Amino acid sequence: MQQVVLITGGSKGIGFALAKKFCQDNHVVLLVARSKSELATAKKTLEQQYRAKVLTLPLDLSVAGSAKQLVKFLTKEKITIDILVNNAGSGDKQAFATADSEKVLSMLQLNVIMLTELTHLLLPGMLKRNRGHIINLASIAGYLPGPNMAVYYASKAYVLSFTRSLAEELRGTAVAVTAVCPGRTKTAFAARAQIDEALFFRGAQSVEQATEEIYRGILAKKTEIIPGFLNKPIPFIVRALPVWLISRLMAKVQR
Ligand SMILES: NC(=O)c1ccc[n+]([C@@H]2O[C@H](COP(=O)([O-])OP(=O)(O)OC[C@H]3O[C@@H](n4cnc5c(N)ncnc54)[C@H](OP(=O)(O)O)[C@@H]3O)[C@@H](O)[C@H]2O)c1
Repeated sequence: MQQVVLITGGSKGIGFALAKKFCQDNHVVLLVARSKSELATAKKTLEQQYRAKVLTLPLDLSVAGSAKQLVKFLTKEKITIDILVNNAGSGDKQAFATADSEKVLSMLQLNVIMLTELTHLLLPGMLKRNRGHIINLASIAGYLPGPNMAVYYASKAYVLSFTRSLAEELRGTAVAVTAVCPGRTKTAFAARAQIDEALFFRGAQSVEQATEEIYRGILAKKTEIIPGFLNKPIPFIVRALPVWLISRLMAKVQR
């Protein structure tokens, strides 16, 4: 059955790679991001490659009230969302004491508040219609302490914890919820977060490889997806070792 998929941050990186997968399966996608020109390029590519129906909305989701603005647009255009992919996210590598406070707050607004608000706005309709899937982009960072990227790691721990709890609340309903926890993945994100040169980022997965596995997990409606065989043992290792040791190691690799 054809479904309508809303992908925040769908113009590039993991969001765009997921959009390709949904288009391949004949779904309609609505991509939301800030850059109009990148949205236009993404739309053109998807329409040409998959003959897909692609809608776009340029919107800065790190601005308070943007989730409501997005839902207003959906109501006005009479668009019903079957699958919500809360993918847009930002990160910044800075010691917390000297971090730019505007960047910190807009990261929290995007990674945590907007994701929560949008989910809260769209979930009741999905429950009423007896169908839906909410896919939240957390990160392998959600399982780890992240010195020098403390707020980003904490924001992803929030997304993971929120999704796990929601999955239990929704058990027995027709709405599924999934936390996607990629490890290092080669996208524009790393350069923006200033971690592309970090020791930690070497050996990152290609976006195509990561998305292949993510999409299989989405179709299987898994609650947690960790793409990449090197990433899968991380939660177990973290549980087995003392927290101080993990924090010390993370500080070393993420200098
Ligand atoms: N890459 C990794 O290593 C990695 C690992 C684990 C988890 N993740 C998570 O995966 C998700 C996607 O990351 P990615 O690597 O694909 O990033 P990316 O390549 O930088 O793409 C980010 C997407 O989000 C949009 N976006 C960013 N800020 C936005 C804002 N304020 N309002 C609206 N849209 C915004 C971007 O478009 P505009 O810039 O035009 O707005 C773009 O479409 C993020 O949540 C990230 O935390 C990434």
